[in-house]
Amino acid sequence: MLRVAVLVSGGGTNLQALIDAIADGTVRNAGIVKVISNKSAVKALDRAEKAGIPREVIKISDFESPRDFEKALIESIDQSEADLIVLAGFLLVLPPALVKKYENRIINIHPSLIPSFCGKGFYGLKVHEEALKRGVKITGATVHFVDEGCDSGPIILQRAVNIIEGDTPETLQKRVMEEAEWKILPEAVNLIASGRIKVKDGKVELS
Ligand code: GAR
Repeated sequence: MLRVAVLVSGGGTNLQALIDAIADGTVRNAGIVKVISNKSAVKALDRAEKAGIPREVIKISDFESPRDFEKALIESIDQSEADLIVLAGFLLVLPPALVKKYENRIINIHPSLIPSFCGKGFYGLKVHEEALKRGVKITGATVHFVDEGCDSGPIILQRAVNIIEGDTPETLQKRVMEEAEWKILPEAVNLIASGRIKVKDGKVELS
């Protein structure tokens, strides 16, 4: 079984999609061993509790320095003996030491078709605001491996979503979640759990 640690910061709907997909057998050979949040009292933690998954809050303000916070985060992940780390709406940049240690073992869900609307400052609702501002007709979501850059790692899966007349950032965010994120995140975990993904020359190869 692929041991999965999920890092969250908020609502946890992507975490829920993964919990449900494991429960109904859409994702096979994987189990969530820990949920870590960098914020307390977020809905994602309730979702973990309801599913009986161990949870931990590790927030920067509880530590004397960002370094101590990063150390605690790495220690907690190490202790979980996770094979895969899933960033499911985790809105902090990971410490480079963690990225290095878990090379090609950390994935992130991003609410746009990378390389559009991604990188520093593009997170959550902001991504959809920018897509609407630019007037694109198609957006979507991307699951990618995390490297030392921001949203720059090898792309695993993408799904397109049409923008429709009258969309607001909120309606678009909801549709991108429903039609893309909640599907491709579990799909990517399933592909990894079944050993069908390889990274070669910075690109993902599916078998
Ligand atoms: C999701 O839309 C996710 O793609 C986005 O935050 C939201 C979290 O929702 N992540 C990013 O923007 C990362 N750059 P959730 O907590 O309900 O899963």
